[in-house]
Amino acid sequence: MNLDKLKTTDGLDLKGKRVLVRADLNVPAKNGVVTDATRLERIVPGLKDLAARGARVVVLSHFGRPKDGPDTENSLAPVAEALGRITGFPVALASDCVGEAAASVVSALPEGGIVVLENTRFHKGEEKNDPEFAKAVAALGDIFVNDAFSAAHRAHATTEGLARLLPAYAGPLLMEEINALRRALEQPKRPVAAVVGGAKVSTKIPVLTNLSAKVDKLIIGGGMANTFLLAGGVEIGKSLAEPDLLETAREIMLAAKSRSCEIVLPQDVVVAERFAAGAPSRTVLSMDVKPGDMILDVGPKTVGHYVDVLSRCETLLWNGPLGAFEIAPFGEGTFALARAAAERTKAGTLVSVAGGGDTVAALNAAGVTDAFTYVSSAGGAFLEWLEGRELPGVAALAR
Ligand code: 3PG
Ligand code: MG
Repeated sequence: MNLDKLKTTDGLDLKGKRVLVRADLNVPAKNGVVTDATRLERIVPGLKDLAARGARVVVLSHFGRPKDGPDTENSLAPVAEALGRITGFPVALASDCVGEAAASVVSALPEGGIVVLENTRFHKGEEKNDPEFAKAVAALGDIFVNDAFSAAHRAHATTEGLARLLPAYAGPLLMEEINALRRALEQPKRPVAAVVGGAKVSTKIPVLTNLSAKVDKLIIGGGMANTFLLAGGVEIGKSLAEPDLLETAREIMLAAKSRSCEIVLPQDVVVAERFAAGAPSRTVLSMDVKPGDMILDVGPKTVGHYVDVLSRCETLLWNGPLGAFEIAPFGEGTFALARAAAERTKAGTLVSVAGGGDTVAALNAAGVTDAFTYVSSAGGAFLEWLEGRELPGVAALAR
């Protein structure tokens, strides 16, 4: 896949054209109300640009994981409403993404108008990437713009199939995401540090393997650090770990060593006897964890060490929290490192790129999201990119 082959709509005359935009409107919602509009705010400038150029903008997206056709819970209705508020003009919702219901709304759409078509996953053909379904969607547009980087790891009809049927372009948000990731991973200023945290090694093996070949420092935190400590012969008490992955952890450490990638592990940790908010906690050296202890965060010495490692790096890629940040006081390690990275970014001495649902939640909690160079709106797609995998939605555009 040659990413330099990605084309945007820049310079195209779109006046009167029906532009099918694949967005990722899969936002958190509760009882029919959008609870986090970040993804919508990010997609809106691209939609407004198309509208301002006289395009007839037809937005496609999945929402949730409906299993059996249309249902109210997974309707895009509240999302279309929120989009209307954010764009500042009415955004209608067609009751279906194919057929007469969609066609009539699209044909009535004026130049500069925006319409959302109902959840693409209400049709089985979407996730099956069924060519017939893709054809039915393609019939509604003149060109296709994929602006859903966060859904690009899915080879579905509206993320992959459509690119085979219509002139296909990369949207501005998708380009922004890819450029940020390339800046951190493909052509970074070195040295590069990656912070990889989260609960389990098992979900991050491909990420660790790929990153150990690409970055100079691999800083490991979160529950997964416990497995690495255990692999190094350190007692971790009652802490979460995956004992069946000790050999894998050792292999990752050996592979990193052979590639001159330094693996950085916690030196001290915050422990408690139970996983609960406000549980009495102590800070101990990693080698002094008692049988009844549960490691729930990295300690201040560790944070100091991580900050020191980072101070010698030019680029930071971050996925996964360093501790159980969702319950106090076990977010302090993550927040402290996040603040340090934010400070250096603001000072212009660090390029910082972060992504993944938990990571973004932790950065938000630390109040530093805006200070990072780039925070991805993608979860699964961000992770698959870090694994070095080709994303079908992006590959389809780069063909
Ligand atoms: C996401 O929220 O990560 C994307 O919208 C993809 O959703 P999915 O995991 O249901 O495919
Ligand atoms: Mg997901």
